Amino acid sequence: MSHAMASDPTAAAAVLRLFFHDCFVNGCDASILLDDTTTTTNLVGEKSAFPNANSLRGYDVIDAIKTSVESACPATVSCADVLAIAARDAVSLLGGPTWNVRLGRLDARVASRDAANANLPGPGSSLPSLLDAFQRKGLSARDMTALSGAHTVGRARCATFRGRVASNSGGGAGSGEAINATYAAELRGACPAGADGAVAPLDVATPDVFDNGYFRALVERRGLLHSDQELFNGGSQDALVRRYASDGAAFASDFAKAMVRMGNLAPAPGTPLEIRKYCRRPN
Ligand code: HEM
Repeated sequence: MSHAMASDPTAAAAVLRLFFHDCFVNGCDASILLDDTTTTTNLVGEKSAFPNANSLRGYDVIDAIKTSVESACPATVSCADVLAIAARDAVSLLGGPTWNVRLGRLDARVASRDAANANLPGPGSSLPSLLDAFQRKGLSARDMTALSGAHTVGRARCATFRGRVASNSGGGAGSGEAINATYAAELRGACPAGADGAVAPLDVATPDVFDNGYFRALVERRGLLHSDQELFNGGSQDALVRRYASDGAAFASDFAKAMVRMGNLAPAPGTPLEIRKYCRRPN
């Protein structure tokens, strides 16, 4: 992981998001890593699902780690375990907490685009729908808010927030969006028409450090995505967001515990499992 980050510091955020998108779709089984194939298995996988298709990255980082693990110890460590450990190390290398990862995950021989579309929350989600998406995985409101703190690193494409800043021409009145007007103007500048590939940091102050800056930004109404600001918009998570904003250690501790719980999400009984040789295809 540190080798990958030396050539591309943004690889850490990419891998952390990959792990979330793996675990939320039939458990942490590396199903996210399977390429679509029309040959023998006719697999329509998760990579082409709406939340993944144009922005999920880091597959090459996991491939490189798996290749070196395979040459040291063949057919022993699953892609799912590689991803779980890489995500943990990505966080700590960015200055965040660390935790013990329980090992022994197996890799699915199947993946589902439909399940990815159904299970992964989108940037326009309301607080009730975010709570619901996490509760369906057995994760609490507190876990949801702590895990959202992953947005203290990384970036999002203009397409995911343009609508909410475009409709906000001066302080939020009438727009229904709780957003700092100066920040909204900055984002409009960063996302001119046609600049669809442009990105903005999810944590405006410290986008490459795993700290509690994301929560401080939410309190200042400088959350990038609608779903981010929903955590601090007069609802049930306001008090916890304030707590994390003022107590970085409390956030770090809750985040680590919630990552362990998310990382223990298991595939449904009956899912065909194995230790994959190459992460992109079943053996
Ligand atoms: C709570 C619900 C969540 C929603 C609605 C959400 C949505 C998003 C969206 C829309 C993006 C930008 C994608 C793009 O540019 O198209 C993003 C990026 C990111 N998300 Fe989330 N996310 C959520 C939770 C999480 C969780 C739980 C984690 C990890 C534990 C996570 C980690 C990340 C990271 C690290 C990035 C930046 C990726 C990069 O820079 O390549 N997110 N998220």
